[in-house]
Amino acid sequence: MTIIKGGLILSFICLIHRGTAQTTLGHLFSEEVSNISFPKNFKWGYASAAYQVEGAWNLDGKGPSVWDYDARNNPDWFINGQNGDVGPDGYHNVDVDIELLLRQKVNTYRLSIAWTRILPNGLLSGGINQKGIDFYKNIITKLRANNIEPVVTMMHWDQPRALEDNGGFLNESIIPAFLDYATLLWETYGDDVQWWTTFNEPKQICGGGYDWGWSSPQNLLPGIGSYICGHNLLRAHAKAYKIYNERFRETQKGKISVNLDLTWQEPATNSPEDEEAAERGRLFWLGWFAHPMVFGDYPEIMKQRIGDRSRRLNLTTSRLPEFTEEEKEELKDSIDFFAIQMYTTNLVTAQEDAPVNETSFDNDLSINSYQPDDWPTTLSSWFRVVPWGARRLLNWIRDTYGDEKGIFITENGYPDDQTILEDMDTRGRCHKLYLSNINDAIYKDKINVIGYLAWSLIDDVEWYGGWVVTFGQYNVDFTSENKTRTPKQSTEYYRKVVTTGCLVDDCVEPL
Ligand SMILES: *[C@@H]1O[C@H](CO)[C@@H](O)[C@H](O)[C@H]1NC(C)=O
Ligand SMILES: *[C@@H]1O[C@H](CO)[C@@H](O)[C@H](O)[C@H]1NC(C)=O
Ligand SMILES: *[C@@H]1O[C@H](CO)[C@@H](O)[C@H](O)[C@H]1NC(C)=O
Ligand SMILES: *[C@@H]1O[C@H](CO)[C@@H](O)[C@H](O)[C@H]1NC(C)=O
Ligand SMILES: *[C@@H]1O[C@H](CO)[C@@H](O)[C@H](O)[C@H]1NC(C)=O
Repeated sequence: MTIIKGGLILSFICLIHRGTAQTTLGHLFSEEVSNISFPKNFKWGYASAAYQVEGAWNLDGKGPSVWDYDARNNPDWFINGQNGDVGPDGYHNVDVDIELLLRQKVNTYRLSIAWTRILPNGLLSGGINQKGIDFYKNIITKLRANNIEPVVTMMHWDQPRALEDNGGFLNESIIPAFLDYATLLWETYGDDVQWWTTFNEPKQICGGGYDWGWSSPQNLLPGIGSYICGHNLLRAHAKAYKIYNERFRETQKGKISVNLDLTWQEPATNSPEDEEAAERGRLFWLGWFAHPMVFGDYPEIMKQRIGDRSRRLNLTTSRLPEFTEEEKEELKDSIDFFAIQMYTTNLVTAQEDAPVNETSFDNDLSINSYQPDDWPTTLSSWFRVVPWGARRLLNWIRDTYGDEKGIFITENGYPDDQTILEDMDTRGRCHKLYLSNINDAIYKDKINVIGYLAWSLIDDVEWYGGWVVTFGQYNVDFTSENKTRTPKQSTEYYRKVVTTGCLVDDCVEPL
């Protein structure tokens, strides 16, 4: 999660359009909370990411990630100089943080592995860092010993800086490098980990990192970089999935996916133009990755529009690369569950297509996406609290991709001033209202939702945003020697939800 997500896009489109739709959507902001207990086997937990919690950026043999590089070479990108060099120092607080998980009584914890803690220069040929291997072995072993199911992300934005000298995700040579890394993780941890995701939020890795720039390494090629990166990332995922099927699945019996994210795109009116624009938004932002991994290829609308806009620029090929038939086969059905992260919702109106000579992802998409002034704000400019969007999103995922394999909400949370401990009416209420909509999706819409991971357990490093605005249910005193953790009010509510499966005081069992 990042406090910068969507910020840029949002701020400039807000200038273009102010909607009138809030009156028609007003009834959706219901405070009514479901009193039906969540399913007994529901996965409850927290999510985290290596760069955001670990610190120890260069200790015990770790190599630099793109974020470590920018913390030194582009320090002004980080607010107040707050970066992940030390952060909440999770590296030296493994037992402390596992205690917090036990206190919260969760059954699931999502962590990511820092690629460069395992392979310091990103390549197997550069040598394996045993201390890095041991660090994660210790966490995973302790989680399992405490009956907390680990969900492990292989790459949560922190790719090895060394690979950027060759273009990082713009160079397909990152594919074999990732496959070596993924294979090593399965050889090392595969017997103890049942839930894997190869990549977290590829849209942010590729768009932020190589196209519009909310994310390191900010090696930007507008309207081109996102598509090349996405193409290489998808091929890396599909080939990793194939390796798992061939070498590990029979004995390890795990499940693999990619953490996708979407700001729900709601048409501002029920005009066919706005409906079409909102659907195009969903397909560009989410279908870009979900379609290939479910159906084997990009959404038609992306192929069509980007192809057309490339031809009109007299380019000989589309800026959106094409998969070979073999790659389509590998990609099709290459996720074992649908991992979705959602925070907020935008309204969408149609607009005229942007000129073709200004190439960018946004221009290829060409929609107005904005948040009305009267939606409840948070400290993050891009984030208004829109609980009903969660239910809409789950319905759309089920209707578009199916829910047979299970939909797993692998991030959701609330951003606030990290020093505020009295957060029941803000963060606690936000979890409650989103969860109530998720509960409605499960019981009223019959959608197969298998779990919910709150972002986040502790205050952490929100990328370039430091810890000015955080999502933690536990405060971290970043000025203290031991980065002391202190519970906020919302920990009590979330613990109650986790232990009872119930959002209110008095629940009924599902029929
Ligand atoms: C649960 O909610 C339903 C519908 O709102 C209501 O009829 C019922 O009385 C509630 N049950 C309890 C135990 O609160
Ligand atoms: C891609 O990476 C390879 C090394 O893996 C390198 O030889 C090649 O020059 C890179 N290509 C570009 C365009 O940087
Ligand atoms: C594309 O090529 C045509 C024919 O040569 C030319 O008329 C047109 O101006 C070109 N368009 C662009 C955007 O370069
Ligand atoms: C794109 O073309 C329009 C005219 O159609 C022109 O005004 C504008 O400056 C061009 N933009 C770029 C980046 O060339
Ligand atoms: C920090 O942790 C160390 C090791 O657990 C402990 O000895 C020390 O007293 C702690 N310092 C503070 C200020 O709590």
